Amino acid sequence: VILTQDELKKIAAYKAAEFVESGMVLGLGTGSTAKHAVDRIGELLRQGKLNNIIGIPTSKQTQEQATSLGIPLSDLDSHPTIDLAIDGADEVDPHLNLVKGRAGSLLREKMVEGACKKFVCIVDESKLVKHLGGSGLALPIEVVPFCWKFNAGKLRNLFQDSGCVAKLRNECKGRPFVTDNGNYIVELYLKREIGDLQVAGDAILRIAGVVEHGMFLDMATTVIVAGELGITIKNK
Ligand code: A5P
Repeated sequence: VILTQDELKKIAAYKAAEFVESGMVLGLGTGSTAKHAVDRIGELLRQGKLNNIIGIPTSKQTQEQATSLGIPLSDLDSHPTIDLAIDGADEVDPHLNLVKGRAGSLLREKMVEGACKKFVCIVDESKLVKHLGGSGLALPIEVVPFCWKFNAGKLRNLFQDSGCVAKLRNECKGRPFVTDNGNYIVELYLKREIGDLQVAGDAILRIAGVVEHGMFLDMATTVIVAGELGITIKNK
């Protein structure tokens, strides 16, 4: 049998749900893969196989989903330490560095996943890349709407050597996509590998008006990869 990408996402998500224990404060990710994990956690709660869970959602979308499943929710203000977060990614490199944010929730994801003891990332094998940017898809950067073109230009200049093109993410028909935090997303398309990722990330964050970037460096403690041949678990 050939499994669809969505079936692989579900397999990775269900595997990650096995890491969840009663009493945990859980970071709940965003996107089509994380959605399966949240569904599964809701199901385990309903079946009484888990109890006393507190979820910290990484987007309004996940907040709505978790609420509809009856998962008790809180936030980082009340729970500054999270036991475990489960979330998808757009790209995973061999060092378990990630690109995230194609669903537009990178800021809250980075805040929540930066506050957890364990971060289990769940992907299907199509997300594995040799280096970040390697999928040819965009690196998302959350920017304040004020003079976003000015900042898109600054971002492009920063990655000139990587043949960078910067575009505003649109919702539809030229209307900008607006994040949960009221910001825009500038997408960077890089033709060549960027050098030191930490240096690049720091340079991005030094631009006034940049809120956060979608590289999650040294954050995932485990990556669960579901592929045609089964599940692979990579640990840091
Ligand atoms: C949300 O902003 C993202 O970081 C997602 O986690 C990421 O885009 C993966 O999404 P899918 O699981 O839908 O591929």
